[in-house]
Amino acid sequence: MSVQHDPVQRADFDQYLVPNYAPAAFVPVRGLGSRVWDQSGRELIDFAGGIAVNALGHCHPALVKALTEQANTLWHISNVFTNEPTLRLAHKLVDATFAERVFFCNSGAEANEAAFKLARRVAHDRFGPEKYEIIAALNSFHGRTLFTVSVGGQPKYSDGFGPKIEGITHVPYNDLDALKAAISDKTCAVVLEPIQGEGGVLPADKAYLEGARALCDQHNALLVFDEVQSGMGRSGELFTYMHYGVTPDILSSAKSLGGGFPIGAMLTTTELAKHLAVGTHGTTYGGNPLACAVAEAVLDIVNTPAVLQGVKTKSEQFKQRLLAIGERYGMFAEVRGLGLLLGCVLNDAWKGKAKAVLDAAAAEGVLVLQASPDVVRFAPSLVVEEADIVDGLDRFERAVAKLAQG
Ligand SMILES: Cc1ncc(COP(=O)(O)O)c(C=O)c1O
Repeated sequence: MSVQHDPVQRADFDQYLVPNYAPAAFVPVRGLGSRVWDQSGRELIDFAGGIAVNALGHCHPALVKALTEQANTLWHISNVFTNEPTLRLAHKLVDATFAERVFFCNSGAEANEAAFKLARRVAHDRFGPEKYEIIAALNSFHGRTLFTVSVGGQPKYSDGFGPKIEGITHVPYNDLDALKAAISDKTCAVVLEPIQGEGGVLPADKAYLEGARALCDQHNALLVFDEVQSGMGRSGELFTYMHYGVTPDILSSAKSLGGGFPIGAMLTTTELAKHLAVGTHGTTYGGNPLACAVAEAVLDIVNTPAVLQGVKTKSEQFKQRLLAIGERYGMFAEVRGLGLLLGCVLNDAWKGKAKAVLDAAAAEGVLVLQASPDVVRFAPSLVVEEADIVDGLDRFERAVAKLAQG
């Protein structure tokens, strides 16, 4: 039996919701694979992936199965008890990564909040209250809680909310000398995105991450990788640290981990995990059975050679075509990124116009993202099909052509 709803429209957003978002003029109502349909029945190809979340597209049958089976079994039980999906997912994440212990939560910001609190706690326990400083990168993004906006290197997100969290320094990304100059024995953690996502799809240099690892070791600081956006197969490796061969002490994951169902995770070692003893940290929904059952299904599919190799192959296809489009219409200075997290950097003539490009793309029937006003970002499903890639990029080219022709 289908439930009858009162009709709703985009205008209701402005009337009933807090105005902290500016959603598009159309309302998507249904998705399948890499296509979505809006209220009017218009079909759009999705290269935005719910901001790097829908790793397996929309309504992937394996995820629908995992969710519905779990929905008929056990929804929520709290951390007063554990549950089977949590135990299975944690075991699989440990088997697949450097980590030996996992903390589950509900978002990227919460995974980072846990990571930063753990780093401070470890330093406090081992070295005393003076060692609490955190070094992060300018232009980085780590979430919207007060701690995570304070660590994030974009004042536009952290200013205007009263005093920030103390003891945080920001240094230019990919500048090892700047990191060397900033780090000291008071540093408890260096926090980096292996690919800066929101900051403009900017991958780290290998030497930078290697240098950061060495500096952390010298100063008894922990290396924290925020892989909320870059992780879970997006770079063509399960996590991007594997691409670089540089292992962090703590890693945060979210977004693609749940393929569209909210979940976050903080991964770390047994030695460090010990510092979050009973009662030191927690969240009601963390390790929720529905979320963990879906994430287990995502991990089972993504962490296979076929999918990870597919990401690399599809990446090349996107890059070639985007480079060609950029050249033909004189719009992009560069196409950068790894795997299926790609950014078209607008050249001087188009600087600041990423939003205009994504609006034009949506008008042609393809969803893309921006990453800063200067970069058009692509974060499609990791299993996006050939026909969708070709059709979607044709639509994108038409949008670019129209814009270029004024
Ligand atoms: C690198 C990174 N960290 C953290 C976050 C925050 O995640 P969430 O929005 O799930 O809190 C994001 C979201 O864009 C992100 O890209």
